[in-house]
Amino acid sequence: MAVQSPVQLIQTRFRLDLVDGWGLTPGAQVLEVGCGQGDMTAALADAVGPEGHVLGVDIASPGYGAPVTLGQSAAHLAATPLGERIEFRFECDILDRATSFPAAAFDDVVLSQCSWYFASLGQLRQTLARVRPWARRLRFAEWDLTASSPRQLPHLLAVLIQGQIEASGCHGDGNVRTPFSRQALLDILAETGWQIDGQRMVDTAGLQDADWEIDTCLQLLADDSRLAVLPPALADLIACQGDLLRQTARHFGNLPLPCYSVTAH
Ligand SMILES: C[S@@+](CC[C@H](N)C(=O)[O-])C[C@H]1O[C@@H](n2cnc3c(N)ncnc32)[C@H](O)[C@@H]1O
Repeated sequence: MAVQSPVQLIQTRFRLDLVDGWGLTPGAQVLEVGCGQGDMTAALADAVGPEGHVLGVDIASPGYGAPVTLGQSAAHLAATPLGERIEFRFECDILDRATSFPAAAFDDVVLSQCSWYFASLGQLRQTLARVRPWARRLRFAEWDLTASSPRQLPHLLAVLIQGQIEASGCHGDGNVRTPFSRQALLDILAETGWQIDGQRMVDTAGLQDADWEIDTCLQLLADDSRLAVLPPALADLIACQGDLLRQTARHFGNLPLPCYSVTAH
């Protein structure tokens, strides 16, 4: 895969490492839920080879996303040598009855660093139950709330603040909405009929996501219209966490949380 920008190179390397650990077979048919701009989709398409295929679906519209929208990124990927192996469907809700596939239509279903963007844990539970008959195997990756270094605390705070604002019923239209623990995911997998094959940690050093998430959170904290509707006690609690975030976060170079990968069948 030809990747040019240094930021994209780091992001792509991380996804190639994740996919490498998943051992996809050449020729595999893959469903990727929450594909976003297709960073992971491209890595999956690379792994399945010319005989394989990746269907990337996302609930958002093609105009969602910055600085590059989903639609722009999809058009870019379509023009690359990987384009023939990829199909994108945006504004596609897996829970909508209109979206359906035959049993075992896919070898693998992938949810990679999208589940914290889901509206609720209930929506994630329903999604994992819905895709269960469609695919033989699940490959799942997400940030891990278990910070192992104090330098990861600003990233942790940034996602928890966003999660608390969402949980209060004050909904945003993107970014982190439902941060949850790895244990919560393992419980949901058991409830939805997935049997775990393995778990591993994936190296996140060098990823810029902590800086991006902290920026997003600080912008949110500066948006009075979002915060004005919070119950006063919660608004006070969030304001204090915001103070802590501003005191502890670096201008850039914040250390990202760890990331875990779970495979199941
Ligand atoms: C962080 S981005 C995508 C990351 C991407 N998987 C990657 O590794 O490059 C998360 C995406 O999840 C999508 N999303 C959130 N809830 C969803 C849902 N219920 N079904 C499908 N996609 C969803 C968002 O629209 C967003 O584009």
